[in-house]
Amino acid sequence: MSGLIPQHFIDDLITRADIAEVVGRRVQLKKAGKEFKGCCPFHDEKTPSFTVSPDKGFYHCFGCGAHGTAIGFLMEHDHMDFVDAVESLANSMGIEVPREEGQRPARSYDALFELVARAGRYFESQLKGNQAAIEYIKARGIDGGTAKRFGIGYAPAGWSNVLDKFGTSREAIDRLLAAGLIIRKDNGQHYDRFRDRIMFPIRDSRGRVIGFGGRVLADEEPKYLNSPETVLFHKGRELYGLYEARQALRSIERLVIVEGYMDVIGLARHGIDFVTATLGTATTDEHLNRVFRVCEEIVFCFDGDRAGRAAAWRALENALPQIRQGRQIRFVFLPDGQDPDSFVQEHGAGAFEEALNTALPLSDFLIEELSRQVDMNSVDGLARMAELARPLLSKIPAGVYKELLTERLAGVVGLPTEKLESIIRKDVARQPKHSSMPAARPKPRARGTGNPSIIRRAITLLLHQPGAGQSLDVEKLVGVSKPGADLLRDLIETVQAEPTITTAGLLERWRSHEDGRHLGTLAATELPESEEFDAGAELANCIAQLAVTARKDRIDFLIEKQTLKDLSELERSELRALSQGSAFSG
Ligand code: GTP
Ligand code: MN
Repeated sequence: MSGLIPQHFIDDLITRADIAEVVGRRVQLKKAGKEFKGCCPFHDEKTPSFTVSPDKGFYHCFGCGAHGTAIGFLMEHDHMDFVDAVESLANSMGIEVPREEGQRPARSYDALFELVARAGRYFESQLKGNQAAIEYIKARGIDGGTAKRFGIGYAPAGWSNVLDKFGTSREAIDRLLAAGLIIRKDNGQHYDRFRDRIMFPIRDSRGRVIGFGGRVLADEEPKYLNSPETVLFHKGRELYGLYEARQALRSIERLVIVEGYMDVIGLARHGIDFVTATLGTATTDEHLNRVFRVCEEIVFCFDGDRAGRAAAWRALENALPQIRQGRQIRFVFLPDGQDPDSFVQEHGAGAFEEALNTALPLSDFLIEELSRQVDMNSVDGLARMAELARPLLSKIPAGVYKELLTERLAGVVGLPTEKLESIIRKDVARQPKHSSMPAARPKPRARGTGNPSIIRRAITLLLHQPGAGQSLDVEKLVGVSKPGADLLRDLIETVQAEPTITTAGLLERWRSHEDGRHLGTLAATELPESEEFDAGAELANCIAQLAVTARKDRIDFLIEKQTLKDLSELERSELRALSQGSAFSG
């Protein structure tokens, strides 16, 4: 048997499987309220701390921390691989495992790729017939050749254009759902995800379209809508424009990493093809692995404003473990208020290349940012700087670079290198309380909006009670940019698209994602089990808090700009609207 097992089958299987029965056949379980308890098969114990929750489809041991779904249990307990575990589970339920057509597993997503490609061509053809969309593209300075090269299209207004055109059978509708092109409503009906938007196809390293970014034509929210995470599309891995860059250039010496679709396109329009963008997420390890496979020199290009510097700092933190002999990582900051797209439109390609040539090496950026945090004229300030540097330096792999940077930092703070090294080696937790070194503030300057612990809480609640996410308004999360915000958004979209999904179903969906392991741990944390505990209300509360924090941060930011007399008309009215809105909530 070969061919890939369709995701919808796994969703369905995991929803219908009785985990208490699966585990109960191998471990002696006793009923305890809504759950079952027994002695953990994964570690030696005399008193039972192993619990199985049929509602969640999830098992968890409070003793050793083991946890997972019915499929996960078979994998761990019976040492099966994923496919065997699925087959064994299906067999025990008298169900046959369907396979997607095609003999080799690698071929089984063909139908999905084909569908997404056809959708892309459909959007492209729609662009030609829509005057407003054409005007928009032109107004953004995109010429026909560039539009063609990037496959830019237009998703027409209306709720069912894609659905009607491609959703001609039950299987076709399933595929549209799997590709993230349509959304399922509570009542089982479907509608188009992308409506009245300029469409940017996202291609994988082989040039296959795997998802889309859709931009509104007017000033509406959300400005961009991206395809959700699907089996083809993983935001944390994909880079927009990388394929196009490799097509355009025979060899790539350096790559510029920008933040937006339009930045890639605007630069390409001006002949700067060695550009790629992350898709609204921070730069991940996987992104960096991919770009460093293409070339050894990367330049992050961000806006000069506070958000841009914060994003650059996050990129720096993620890049530290990637530092190697021969690799170059630099940062360029554009004048406040400009992004790469507007900069190149205004000043031209030459000026942009010049800006690239003045990019700050990673080490300079690091030292510059740390110096901004502390009072460099006081002993305390310098000591603090050493403290701030510690977690950063410890991320850099041992080698010449690390030694040189440590030496330079030692020079800056006025300590002998060996002294700074010994400070860096020290474990923060073991430092005596009366230490004269002030404790490092976590993540200097990486100021996104929202609070990660609220996001973690929201994710935990959602995992425990997916149904509680049904009526949440994802749009409220626009502007929340903390780590985990994207994951939270994807989870909410998933539970809304799949109203019957269980904890186990979510975990299976995320099985092969980076975040999957994390989700398992969160699903295993205990929540209050009292009668009056209302996960839905609590979740809505978390989302509201995140929205409020995001708004406060935005207001702070605008006020700071106002103080610097640097507020545009648009921002002024935004600030007015925001401050009026917040007068009620404090
Ligand atoms: P414009 O020039 O205004 O078209 O946009 P841009 O390409 O310069 O993007 P911007 O700098 O505003 O944002 C950077 C990236 O963040 C975008 O390309 C998107 O990937 C993402 N992004 C921006 N706004 C949104 C949004 O409202 N929702 C989502 N999901 N992503 C967004
Ligand atoms: Mn822009």
